[in-house]
Amino acid sequence: MKKEHRGRVTRDGIRIYSDADFAGMHKAGALAAAILDRVAPEVQVGQSTAALDAMIEAMVDEAGATSATIGYKGYKHASCISVNHVVCHGIPGEKLLKDGDILNIDVTVIVDGWFGDTSRMYVAGKLPRRAERLIEVTHDALMKGIEAVRPGNTFGDIGAAIQTYVEAQRMSVVRDFCGHGLGLVFHAPPNVLHYGRAGTGPKLEEGMFFTIEPMVNLGRPETKVLADDWTAVTRDKSLSAQFEHSVGVTSDGVDIFTLSPGGLFHPTYSA
Ligand code: MF3
Ligand code: CO
Ligand code: CO
Repeated sequence: MKKEHRGRVTRDGIRIYSDADFAGMHKAGALAAAILDRVAPEVQVGQSTAALDAMIEAMVDEAGATSATIGYKGYKHASCISVNHVVCHGIPGEKLLKDGDILNIDVTVIVDGWFGDTSRMYVAGKLPRRAERLIEVTHDALMKGIEAVRPGNTFGDIGAAIQTYVEAQRMSVVRDFCGHGLGLVFHAPPNVLHYGRAGTGPKLEEGMFFTIEPMVNLGRPETKVLADDWTAVTRDKSLSAQFEHSVGVTSDGVDIFTLSPGGLFHPTYSA
């Protein structure tokens, strides 16, 4: 179902959605988040990421929704699963998870034309101490970025909040990938940078929908893409983590579309 949309677009090419559009985003975001909740107990030592992806694809189908990633620029899977030093866009495969592996699972679904895009971190087996800190810092960096979302602030305020926090923890923010506008399309203006200077960039306005999805490395920020043309890894092989929410700007703050129905977004591991 392709929806036509009549609405304002800013000078920077950012679409302004209406009050009613928030409901569509909530439905799509809630499904993506519920899928990430349901996959959590399946993340186990000895499990393959291809099996996790197959479960995710089945959950999308069962919900009567559409995967936004299958067929996107030739991508063939319902999720990206990025293990350890993989920064993002990890391709699900037959390799089995080992004790202490950390992984990001990123799911984007389409419900009634609306896109819900979210990712979070998981662990197989026992969480190593340094990975625990990385995951905690990355989660908190996303939340600090979200706290900067309100009309009148700028996209630079979001990036600055994230970068300042991460670098104070002596970790680094990946520059090579960013968040994005979304709504009735997957990737739209603006590029939502996870670094930058406060007060710079386009002003945030009520009705803007976008993702914030910082990737944080324990080592240097540089990445490279492998020969499969998708998998992005840290150049120095250091561990990397990422969390992603889809959000909308409200009259006085922010609405998070991809909150976990089970309260499982934050990494509180039973270990
Ligand atoms: N969900 C990713 C994002 O956050 C995009 C994945 S595109 C894919 O923007 F093709 F790699 F799946
Ligand atoms: Co995204
Ligand atoms: Co995503």
